[in-house]
Amino acid sequence: MKVYRTVSEYQTWRNSLQAGKTVGFVPTMGALHDGHGSLLNRSRIDNEYSVLSIFVNPTQFNNPEDFKNYPNTLELDLKKAEAEKVDIVFLPDYKEMYADNYRYRVSENDFSYSLCGANRPGHFNGVLTVVMKLLNIIRADSAYFGEKDYQQLALIKDMVQFFFVPTTIISCATIREK
Ligand code: PAF
Repeated sequence: MKVYRTVSEYQTWRNSLQAGKTVGFVPTMGALHDGHGSLLNRSRIDNEYSVLSIFVNPTQFNNPEDFKNYPNTLELDLKKAEAEKVDIVFLPDYKEMYADNYRYRVSENDFSYSLCGANRPGHFNGVLTVVMKLLNIIRADSAYFGEKDYQQLALIKDMVQFFFVPTTIISCATIREK
């Protein structure tokens, strides 16, 4: 398993793959649990290579305290990723993901207001923006998302369709710890 912290390191690996080999992608904010494990397992079954990203995305937090207190369990996460036979962990920092300082963003201006976006201003724009960036960087054949975050999943599917992103979004059943 390799850990890449920059887009350019990742791109070098991605460009070296033989044509026809498929890449599955699981985006996360770390603090990996069994739900993430099931997404990684599905990615491994479906694809030759699996990529996991860990990035706690500040733009999707309405409350800066929640961002500050978000758990950081990197060492444990890397062990879990290794156990799930992840090939690549993409671990960017804020500057790598937001060199534009969030001047550019994806904003959804209708559907999300009928969801909990109405009470969480900016949340879904932050999610959609980071997912768009990650999908463009990773260039996966398929990306795996849990049905647990059903509203997020619906918006991501919608965005990918209307921005013609060539990655298939696969939804996976919710797995909860006992
Ligand atoms: O579901 C999550 O963990 C996050 O919203 C995601 C999709 C990784 C974007 O930061």
